[in-house]
Amino acid sequence: MDHVDRLGEEHPPIPLDSADFTMRRPDLLASRFGGVLAYMTRVELEVERNVLELNLLLPDPPPVDKHFYADVWSPQELHHGVLLDRLQTLAGLPVSEPNVDQISFQLRFLGALAHLSAIQDVSRMLYYLTGVATEQSAILAYNLLHKGLLELDEQAVASTIIAPIRRQEPGHFAYYKIAARGLWSEMAPWQKWLVRLLRKQSFEVVGAYNKSQRAEFGGVMEALHITDGGDEGLQKYAQQIGRVELELLWAQKQGLRFPGYVLDSLRSAVHLYRR
Ligand SMILES: [Fe+2]
Ligand SMILES: [Fe+2]
Repeated sequence: MDHVDRLGEEHPPIPLDSADFTMRRPDLLASRFGGVLAYMTRVELEVERNVLELNLLLPDPPPVDKHFYADVWSPQELHHGVLLDRLQTLAGLPVSEPNVDQISFQLRFLGALAHLSAIQDVSRMLYYLTGVATEQSAILAYNLLHKGLLELDEQAVASTIIAPIRRQEPGHFAYYKIAARGLWSEMAPWQKWLVRLLRKQSFEVVGAYNKSQRAEFGGVMEALHITDGGDEGLQKYAQQIGRVELELLWAQKQGLRFPGYVLDSLRSAVHLYRR
């Protein structure tokens, strides 16, 4: 709760009028990072739907979760989305068309089960794990995008848009990590078993809900040079986004560098993109 209060105080949503959209070469920026901007804008704006999903998935959430996602997280993320959307349209790219209200069948199904509190804990654990991987992906992506924009000499947008967004993601990551560790330590063996099973079945790269979005994510990794080192590059990335769940869910598996399903989905994204 202290962490969440502090995040709220120290990181109000980025004021929309604080951004300087001056671009030296908007055409170059669009051709180099258009796919990255489009993807990240959509994911940030879809937070509006994520909040609806959370209300369904966690009918009876711990107050701290509700406080985090309703008062701190979603207002911050929505401003990220609005700023990025403005940036991409000014660079000549199409406006984002996020899915803000269509909730998938799987989620509604899990939501119906979540009225049983022991099941709701399983859903909540999956929510934290998704949060950890998502925020870690965001941190890495914004770091690489920031670097890429500086290489294009786009100082204004790098320092007044991407840098302030990037500063807000580590607090989200920390929240999910603390929450995941706490809940995991309280779970019964059968709940842990179910979490492992469902996580393995349902892991997906951040923001991808179908094949074409997964392929787009492959393009994002390519544009950000994550794929430059070939499969070794992907393994390094899998290690970064899978670290926390490796520690918790798969602690008993000695010598594993990352959960195999994380690397599989990254490989699949790259494969779909290149096809
Ligand atoms: Fe964000
Ligand atoms: Fe975030």
